[in-house]
Amino acid sequence: MDDDRAPRNFDPAWWQRDDLQYRAGRLHFAGRDLRALAARTGTPAFVYSAARVRANLGRLQVALAAEGVPHRVFYAIKANRFRPLLQAMHEWGLCGIDVCSPAELQYAMELGFDAADISFTGHAVSNSDLDTLARHPEVHVNCDALSTIRRLGERCPGRSIGIRVNPRVGAGYNDRLHYAGVRPSKFGIYRDRFDEALELAARFRMKVTQIHFHFGYGYLTRDLPQFEEALANAAWFVDRCPDIDTLDVGGGMGAPITPEHPPLDLGRWAALIARATRSRNLKVHLEPGDYLMKDAGALLCEVNTVENKGGVNFAGVDAGLNLQNLWAYYQTPFIIAPLALRAVGEACETYTVTGNINEAIDVLAEDVLLPQLQEEDFVALLNAGGYGSAAASNHCMRGGFTEHLLD
Ligand SMILES: Cc1ncc(COP(=O)(O)O)c(C=O)c1O
Repeated sequence: MDDDRAPRNFDPAWWQRDDLQYRAGRLHFAGRDLRALAARTGTPAFVYSAARVRANLGRLQVALAAEGVPHRVFYAIKANRFRPLLQAMHEWGLCGIDVCSPAELQYAMELGFDAADISFTGHAVSNSDLDTLARHPEVHVNCDALSTIRRLGERCPGRSIGIRVNPRVGAGYNDRLHYAGVRPSKFGIYRDRFDEALELAARFRMKVTQIHFHFGYGYLTRDLPQFEEALANAAWFVDRCPDIDTLDVGGGMGAPITPEHPPLDLGRWAALIARATRSRNLKVHLEPGDYLMKDAGALLCEVNTVENKGGVNFAGVDAGLNLQNLWAYYQTPFIIAPLALRAVGEACETYTVTGNINEAIDVLAEDVLLPQLQEEDFVALLNAGGYGSAAASNHCMRGGFTEHLLD
C-alpha cells in the first residue's frame, strides 16, 4: 500500500506524558478526567497544572545550576496571570516576576512579590509609567530606548538600570516570531546608539548594571547556534559597561509544538550561557513566560458544528482567537485532543478546527488528523496555557470563559 492510502491514526504518543495522557479512552491532566471536568465547569474553560509549571521552572534552574551559573528567574507575568497559579508561584519562592506595565507591577505587588523581586521590561514607556517606577526604586528597570533612559534619569538620578539591547539575531517557532534580526525591530537599543545610551546614563549618574536581550518566541534546539550568536553580540555591549554584573537573556524558550520539534536541549543551552558569562563574572537573569505556562495549560471547548465545506472538514468550537490567538497571529499550532475516544483505532479524518469569532483568521488548527468528530464532543487545545486568558478579549462579545487550577 502506498503512503497516500495507508491508514493514518490519531497518534498522541509524542505529546503524552505522565501527567497528560489517555486512560481508558479519557484524557487525564494533572490527575483529572477532563471530560468529566468539562461537563461540570462548562466550556470554554482553561485548566492549569501548577505542578507542571513548577517542573518547567525547575528544569531551567537545574540546567543552569549544573553549569554553575548563578542565576535568577523572573517569570514574565504577561504569559498568564491567573491568580491562584501566581499565588502558588509566590508561595514556592523560586522566582521573581518580570512586568511590562504599571498594572502588572501593581498586581505582582498585590500578590506579595517584593519590589526587589520584580523587574520591569517595557516598550513605549510613558511618563506616567515612569512616574510609577519612580515610586518603586527597588524595582529593576530594563530601558529599551534612549528616551526611557533620559526620562527615567530625570526622575531618578543615580538609579541602577539595565539596558535592553537588540542582538540583531533572532529565532522562534517561525520567522514571524523573531524579536531581533536583520530587519530593525522596535525592541532594544542597537550598537550604533549605544554610546549615546551610556552618555545619557552617565549624565544622570545611573549605573548600567545589566544588559538585557530577548530574541524570539519559541526557540528550540535547532536555534541554539543563533542563540550563541546573540550571546556573542550581547557581550559586545557587556564589555562596554564597567559596572555590569548581570546578563539578562530574556524569555522565548520554546516547548515542542509538533512531533518534529524535540524539546529544547537545556544542557546545551545552559552551557552556552555559562561560556558567555563565566569569564566575565556575570550573574544571569532570565524571563521565561510561555516556557513555564504553555504545556501547563489547556483550553477545553465543545465542538458545535461539524461540516464539510469546499472539500474541507471544518469543526467549529465554542472558543476562538479572542481566547487563544497564537494560531491566528503567528500560525503556531495547538495540539487538538478529544477529551474522550470512542474506540481503539477508530476512523480518523483531517479537520480544520475553527473558532466562533467572525474573522477569517479565526482558526485554531489546520489539517489535523483526529478521530471522527461529532457535534457536542469536547476537545482540548493543548499548549494553550500561555497568552490565552492573559490576552483574552471580548471580540464579538464572546469573552466568557472560566479558569481552573487542577492541583
Ligand atoms: C522582554 C520580554 N521578556 C520575556 C518575555 C516572555 O517571553 P516568552 O513568553 O516567549 O518566554 C517577553 C515576551 O514578549 C518579553 O518581551
